[in-house]
Amino acid sequence: MGEKIWIFDTTLRDGEQSPGFSMNVEEKLRMAAQLAKLNVDVIEAGFPISSEGDFEAVKAVAQNIKGPVICGLCRLLKIDIDRAWEALKYAQRARIHVLGCGSDIHLQYKLRTTREQMIQDSIEAVKHARSLCDDVEFSPEDATRADGDFLCQLLEAVIDAGATTVNIPDTVGYITPGEFGALIRTLRERVPNIHHARISVHCHNDLGLGVANMLAAIENGARQVEGTINGIGERAGNAALEELIMALKVRANYYGHYTDIVTEEIYKTSRLLGSITGIHVQPNKAIVGDNAFAHEAGIHQHGVLSNPITYEIMTPQSIGLPRNRIVLGKHSGRHAFAKRLEDLGYELTKDEINRAFSRFKDLADKKKEIFDEDLEAIVEEQLSSVADVFMLEYIHATTGNQTVPTATVRLRREDVVLQDAAIGDGPVDAAYQAIDRITGIPGRLIDYQIKAVTSGKDAIGEVHVKVQFNGDAASGKAASTDVIEASAKAYLNAVNKVAFRAKRGKQP
Ligand code: KIV
Ligand code: ZN
Repeated sequence: MGEKIWIFDTTLRDGEQSPGFSMNVEEKLRMAAQLAKLNVDVIEAGFPISSEGDFEAVKAVAQNIKGPVICGLCRLLKIDIDRAWEALKYAQRARIHVLGCGSDIHLQYKLRTTREQMIQDSIEAVKHARSLCDDVEFSPEDATRADGDFLCQLLEAVIDAGATTVNIPDTVGYITPGEFGALIRTLRERVPNIHHARISVHCHNDLGLGVANMLAAIENGARQVEGTINGIGERAGNAALEELIMALKVRANYYGHYTDIVTEEIYKTSRLLGSITGIHVQPNKAIVGDNAFAHEAGIHQHGVLSNPITYEIMTPQSIGLPRNRIVLGKHSGRHAFAKRLEDLGYELTKDEINRAFSRFKDLADKKKEIFDEDLEAIVEEQLSSVADVFMLEYIHATTGNQTVPTATVRLRREDVVLQDAAIGDGPVDAAYQAIDRITGIPGRLIDYQIKAVTSGKDAIGEVHVKVQFNGDAASGKAASTDVIEASAKAYLNAVNKVAFRAKRGKQP
């Protein structure tokens, strides 16, 4: 049966730190709960010293998520390690991930230190981490561009100091599969105490080789892989874990190893990440893209109909792809609705279900077929809404090629109704100007994305915005069959976050 390959998920740390993918504490918690259902072995929940928000997120995940090992990243500094432990100490099983440096390029230009000093600092850091936690991972950043002799010395030193996992990061996505396999083999041959630690690899995708590199490393003795769901991450991203996992499963006859992943949770996990971040995968994305199991060409359809094995190397069911995508309609009851949300990975309270059900009924009056994507849009909007300071009561916008776009907006703040109108470059801009005038919290739109969540002219439009306010920034999202209303509500969602934070007198 081969050996177990540990799946280390860094969606909430390496994935989250790339532009456009940031998540707040509550969003990270929801994602972590789904990763636990997927049964990943390790969740790297953040970099606790990097911000208050990251610290709170790692702590919340450590306190609430049972099953996987919960991990936090830190540099070699004592203050980093202590801060990470402060957040991680609540976990059922915790791991401290200590980041050193492998390549001369990074030693010289980033850290301005020497190889000797790096070995000393790494030993001290690992020893300190081990004094707090039994499970310590060490990563020499940019290891794939490191000098081979130095890398061997460094790994030997940190394993002697107590590192239980040594991770070889291809930080800049530079290496190729043949070279990476050879590197892992060399480390196994030349680091005398290597059998005291698990060898891990961490691959970036700059040349599109992340998953291929991981597989080559596994063939040569790596037993942990680090990546992200949907391959999100810095630049071209990290290796996509769903691809690696399914490669090991589908080609078990070749690789001979296994993971403990519940692959039927893959689709749900990928969708949840897309709904939370507002960034969904492209249709032809391997494993989780909309077209990954679609057969368009007549000749393919004919083959699949006579026997799916002709063109399908894995079943849609193996990744948990729902077979029937049209789920509910106007006459569906609360029970079926709640069950469908549960199947989509949402754990909601009775009150949350009731509120979502009422929005679902409103939508069903406007739209004949309600798809999973519609339900996700409803629930995501509801879950992302903070205790609203301002509520949208009314919006009216006029636009046209011979008209100055104008919007009238009415908001409620507790018992007070506030109304104003503005002109703008377009109806969305006009609505945002009117909202700014009413709230007195002017914002600058940094990012605006709109997406039809399903096909059809009656599709829901989902809007994601990022807004910079004076001294604070927030993201917002909302969905509606009316895109101007969705745009206004998304903006207001961001306004409400900063207004709420200001009211609480706390920063994010
Ligand atoms: O890419 C990298 O080197 C990393 C380390 C923290 C492992 O993300
Ligand atoms: Zn990385």
